[in-house]
Amino acid sequence: MPVVVTTGDEEGGEDMGEQREHWGSRLGFVMAAVGSAVGLGNMWRFSYLAAESGGAAFVVLYIGMTALVALPIMLAEFTLGRGARQSPVLALAHYGGPAWKPLGWLFVAAGFLILAYYSVIAGWTVRYALLGLRDGFAGDASARFAAISTGLTAIVFHAAFMAVTVSVVAGGVRSGIERTNLVLMPMLFVILIGLAIYASQLDGAALGYAYYLRPRFDELASFSVLSQAAGQAFFSLSLGMGAMLTYASYLDRHEHLPNASLQIAGADFLVAFIAGLAVFPLIFAHGLETAVGESTVGALFITLPTAFEKMGLAGRLVGTLFFAALVVGALTSAIALLEQVVATAMDVFKWPRRSSAIGLGVIIFLMGVPAALDLDVLGKMDQLAGNVFLVIGSLALAIFVGWRMQDPIGEVAIGAPGVRWFFLWRSLLRFVAPPVLIVVLYYSFRALVSGDG
Ligand code: TRP
Repeated sequence: MPVVVTTGDEEGGEDMGEQREHWGSRLGFVMAAVGSAVGLGNMWRFSYLAAESGGAAFVVLYIGMTALVALPIMLAEFTLGRGARQSPVLALAHYGGPAWKPLGWLFVAAGFLILAYYSVIAGWTVRYALLGLRDGFAGDASARFAAISTGLTAIVFHAAFMAVTVSVVAGGVRSGIERTNLVLMPMLFVILIGLAIYASQLDGAALGYAYYLRPRFDELASFSVLSQAAGQAFFSLSLGMGAMLTYASYLDRHEHLPNASLQIAGADFLVAFIAGLAVFPLIFAHGLETAVGESTVGALFITLPTAFEKMGLAGRLVGTLFFAALVVGALTSAIALLEQVVATAMDVFKWPRRSSAIGLGVIIFLMGVPAALDLDVLGKMDQLAGNVFLVIGSLALAIFVGWRMQDPIGEVAIGAPGVRWFFLWRSLLRFVAPPVLIVVLYYSFRALVSGDG
């Protein structure tokens, strides 16, 4: 047994000496964090929002929001996790005292909620990928979506997806999570780049790009677009619920956190951007643009499959690859969501990893069943989680690291010698992130109450 090192901290103290699991390599950590970030949020939601509001102007706004608000919060999560070497509840208590534990539990609640419906959507993508492989995409896409998205099939695929997620997380940080991400993430990049190149050769490509990116700066002059860009940045980077914090808790103190944050945010943005380059030419090549505006989910699961159907055999291949990429993105995100919850059970209640993964996986599966029976329930869960839980969580994190934590700069600077802008980081957390997040929260609540958004 390793020597027990007592640090004198409360709760955290006695665990520090136990062998906490660890990433096998720096690349493994970065890939896992990119895997968490890259998911259904990037592959479709980003390009859809860009096309809806502002085009390239939205992209600029999104990058600005990421740099000024989301990146500082990612760095804050990394600093907390690496410093405390604990999952969220105990990490917050470690730096802020027991009064901050409820915030950690809010994060855990967000994890349950998001994974429950995320897994249902992931189940659809699995079903589409398999169908594409076996039968192609022929037939009435709306009818197919109606049949697949709710009811018994949806529940079965939701269960299967959760089972795979559980089995990876049960395998542990290094041989489960890290290994899976090291294989799957490069695959996803290759598929997406291939699809974007293929799409660029299509007849409607230029029209598609124009729809996606034509800069329309006038559309940005609204707080609701601003808050959408910010909300998308948080959701896409998996922030505001301690998932990134948990991944960082398996790091060495000497890890260069600012570099890791930049790489992760950069990769996440590239995937989102490239996915848009693939999707819009496909839609425009087949004159389906009128069908885009209906709903995010509809465009992804109805309009695109219709485009694949019109492409014949090529569409079968391209469509199957596209949905396979979605499955990969969803799986690596689901793994991160489950890991946060499992790590908490392990750290707080001392449950063994395997039983935590299985037990909590079953509970999350059951929570997702209502979403698999009713699309409205799914939509509400998504809004509540993405627009409310994650925003409140990010706001609290900015305040915690900006104002409450003692010497976060001293902590983050470990492993990052020579970085001179940490004071700027803390100022962003103190003065910029909170007001921006309060505006976002206001618009999210409004959307939630009015039933759109
Ligand atoms: N970032 C994921 C996506 O883009 C979704 C997500 C939100 C997430 N919060 C998370 C994933 C926490 C893992 C952990 O689809």
